[in-house]
Amino acid sequence: MARLDYMDVYFSVQSFQEEDLRGKSAVIIDVLRAASSMVTALSNGAKKIIPVGAMEDAVRIAQTMDNKDYLLCGEQNGHKIEGFHLGNSPLEYTEDVVADKTLIINTTNGTKAIKKAALANRMYVGCFLNQKSILKALEDHDDDVVLICSGWQGKMSLEDTLFAGSIIYKMCKGRLPKNTKDGVKVAFSLYQSYKDELEQAIETSDHAIRLKELVPDGDIPFVCETDKFDVLPGMKDGILINLNG
Ligand code: MLT
Repeated sequence: MARLDYMDVYFSVQSFQEEDLRGKSAVIIDVLRAASSMVTALSNGAKKIIPVGAMEDAVRIAQTMDNKDYLLCGEQNGHKIEGFHLGNSPLEYTEDVVADKTLIINTTNGTKAIKKAALANRMYVGCFLNQKSILKALEDHDDDVVLICSGWQGKMSLEDTLFAGSIIYKMCKGRLPKNTKDGVKVAFSLYQSYKDELEQAIETSDHAIRLKELVPDGDIPFVCETDKFDVLPGMKDGILINLNG
């Protein structure tokens, strides 16, 4: 069982160094929307996900594969990338579209956080949709844990911090021990304040407001559904697969 006194929370991709994660377990959080899309895709039968840090890398990897086997996915500043098959709305990742495909995904913050966490001993991708699977994975070993909120271009995000807080809240059953790190206290307290009105809080977040012009209305209620999928995206040799599969 992971210990809360050794746990830490980072609030953006830019707020940690690669070396900070060496030997630890990292949970990469991007509620809006990369983690929610990846969890949905794996639950709907996607074979694997190759996260990349740049659009050119996605195209280069695709060129080594058969056209029928992959989908190019992701966004740039919230917009679908020209020439890519899918954007970054979890609602696009339906079974008829993603089953048996390899998804090559590039996003503004989420996939960059995943790439930067390469030195972690274990790495999972988490959001409200697969909360129970994340909690179970953290129960199963005693690595030190870091919760990495992808945030937005170096800034913290309300929705990612709320999910980090929710994990902490459940681990300590609502009673935070005194000897925790500041990041853990902040995430826990935020979740405690908003836990009964999560969707309303996330609707007012900076990123939800930013996305309003760009994406279908259904994204926000969808990403707020808790424990919808029994999926644990985990990293193996640079590729995300469903470890619960
Ligand atoms: C990201 O990686 O920054 C996000 O998932 C952006 C989004 O599509 O909402």
